[in-house]
Amino acid sequence: MFGGKMLLKMFGPVLLLCSVVPFVRSIGNKSHSFLVVDEDALLTTPQLIRKYGYEVEEHEVRTEDGYLLAMYRIPPRHLGSRRYPIFLMHSLLSTSADWVLIGRNHGLAYLLADLGYDVWMGNARGNRYSRKHERYAITSVEFWDFTWHEIGLYDVPAFIDYVLKQTDSRKLHFIGYSQGTIVVFVALSERPELNEKLVQMQLLSPAIYLKEFDSFLLKLIVMSCDEIVARLTASQIYEFTPYFEYQYFFFKRLCPSPAQRVCRLVIFDVVGGYPENLDVKLLRILLGHFPAGVSVKQIHHVCQLFRDGIFQQYDYGNPEINLQRYGSTQVPKYNVSRVKAPVRIYYSYGDRLVNYRNVLQLQQELSNLVSSYPVPDKRFGHSDFAYGRNVKEMLYDEMLANLEQADGL
Ligand SMILES: *[C@@H]1O[C@H](CO)[C@@H](O)[C@H](O)[C@H]1NC(C)=O
Repeated sequence: MFGGKMLLKMFGPVLLLCSVVPFVRSIGNKSHSFLVVDEDALLTTPQLIRKYGYEVEEHEVRTEDGYLLAMYRIPPRHLGSRRYPIFLMHSLLSTSADWVLIGRNHGLAYLLADLGYDVWMGNARGNRYSRKHERYAITSVEFWDFTWHEIGLYDVPAFIDYVLKQTDSRKLHFIGYSQGTIVVFVALSERPELNEKLVQMQLLSPAIYLKEFDSFLLKLIVMSCDEIVARLTASQIYEFTPYFEYQYFFFKRLCPSPAQRVCRLVIFDVVGGYPENLDVKLLRILLGHFPAGVSVKQIHHVCQLFRDGIFQQYDYGNPEINLQRYGSTQVPKYNVSRVKAPVRIYYSYGDRLVNYRNVLQLQQELSNLVSSYPVPDKRFGHSDFAYGRNVKEMLYDEMLANLEQADGL
């Protein structure tokens, strides 16, 4: 697997970046500055929304299996809008902050609210905002016994039904980013009746198939994932990268100016993109919000997606346990042909995590693909879908026009 050519292929981009990164600062601060300040690292999603002048509501949504999830809403400014409500689902290790962190004039939740949409942001079980269960304590094994499968099977349907009930609407729009796309595919394939409840889905960097990823670091992690997970579990650690109050200060220390080059190399290796598109201040702020806690089992399931390239349920790695859980030694695959709601896809050639070849693979399986949009900036990376300097021009403007079209406006 690791021939010389392979190594060069993996290290090549890193070496190239090493030569580019020293010039980042001078290029970086020119255009498209986000209207954000360092203090934003320390605020919660609702606090940020309020601070930037929008109304916000905090809802608690109960899932069938007893989790109590936080959902944040920016209510519509005008009553009687002909637009359907919108439900947004964030990426792995992250939270609803994905939609607001880059501030007014850029953040997707604000752009949607400015257009008059009723904006609902979910928070998956286990992240810093969704850490309650009717019976299980946050410290219990039972609480953390889930992967993105349960987020798709329980959280997504609970959010959808909650929004429809609250807004007295028949349907809603769905926007998902990265893991947010995985979980809606689980939801729709396991509960096909949900298809009827979606006007259209906007998928940002759809991560259903992940086998072709480029990152060197990630290859190392995926190779050793079974062992890392076994060790964590043996040490009775069930939560991975929990959010902690001082993480902003911690990461700021960990990545001061000279060392920031190393931190950035890691980032660009994993997610792709390019230095000028990553705002230095925003990166600091982001580290106050990300990572925000997932289960160890969920990370293991993500590793399996990268390693095996099969969209299927969690593999216990042991035929007997699989048999016990699934009634078969074969791990059940999700049936993507049951995803029937209209889909619009947005992807990038510069995305090192979700490779465009995997996006094309997914598209072939979709029965209701409305459009597929490669971001015109070919260097646009995985994190740029929420945090890139040029994300509004490169992506959101296109998506907003598509939403309005779907609403017949
Ligand atoms: C997938 O779902 C479709 C439509 O419900 C069904 O016809 C097909 O048999 C399913 N495939 C598998 C492998 O279960």
